[in-house]
Amino acid sequence: MGELVAVPTETVYGLAAKALDPIACAKIFEAKARPLSDPLIIHIPEMSWLKRLSQPSRLATELAQAFWPGPLTLVVAKKGCVPDLVTAGQESVAIRMSAHPLFAGVLNALGEPVAAPSANRFGRISPTTAGHVMEELEGKIPMILDGGPCQHGIESTIVLIAGNTLQILRHGPITVDQLSAYAKIHEGESQVLAPGRLKSHYAPQTPLEIQTVSALRGWPHTSRKTGLLAWQHSISGFNATEVLTPSGNPIVAATNLYAAMRRLDAAGLDLILAEEPPLAGLGTAIFDRLKKAAA
Ligand code: TXA
Ligand code: MG
Repeated sequence: MGELVAVPTETVYGLAAKALDPIACAKIFEAKARPLSDPLIIHIPEMSWLKRLSQPSRLATELAQAFWPGPLTLVVAKKGCVPDLVTAGQESVAIRMSAHPLFAGVLNALGEPVAAPSANRFGRISPTTAGHVMEELEGKIPMILDGGPCQHGIESTIVLIAGNTLQILRHGPITVDQLSAYAKIHEGESQVLAPGRLKSHYAPQTPLEIQTVSALRGWPHTSRKTGLLAWQHSISGFNATEVLTPSGNPIVAATNLYAAMRRLDAAGLDLILAEEPPLAGLGTAIFDRLKKAAA
């Protein structure tokens, strides 16, 4: 099986190929129009693969035991068996174990790891349903496994582990508070290339701006068709509105984020205004995605 399959994970849909088969992995870059400089995450069927693919430190092993299977990706020193194409020539490799039962079942049956980035065209919004994958990649991939809507709705938290220090490369469902129980979180820019940190990513085609709730309440409406991506409460006067979490629960907001962005993007608007989320816990990860969508 050297072909691509779109698979559900607990975060977003992935586009999977056998990780140790560079030809199969090359098809991922082709289908997504992804630059070869952007490395892929490897998804493993079981814990023993962490050591087969990398040289995990004590901290990396502890984090894997604590959060796998689940939405945490570890960037660790790679071993020689990992193709250069997968790591974009870097000495580190990104690894995670997914908690999605359908995907986990496929990996166990396959008995080897797969590389899987999010199943969208490069720079676009990650898909959280099989229908979104169709919108992104129809005609470019032979198969989509439909596992229903994704549980978390935003991509995994990525941490860079160097020895026993930890740095967050991408905020996600596993929060700073959860991680800080295991290590001091190192702040500051890393030297590691993590193109997911590009300023613009996860972008709708309609221009998007982030605004505070008070700015939105007093918004000076013009003839521009304007949509609102509200956090908890809708505000009148907009041409289209999506409310991320009527109950105020950030977990629900994360789950709805990308689907809501896609609906607003399809609504023929001139501008999308996104309300600033509460800046703590999962709100940080959501704010991060909104900033990238706005860039
Ligand atoms: O939740 C997720 O992580 C989803 C699902 C499908 O697992 N995957 C995902 O993959 O978001 P992708 O490729 O869209 O984003 C992975 C990010 C990229 O920004 C990539 O640059 C970074 O991980 N990455 C991969 N390998 C890396 C490495 N060795 N060092 C630093 N960053 C790396
Ligand atoms: Mg992606």
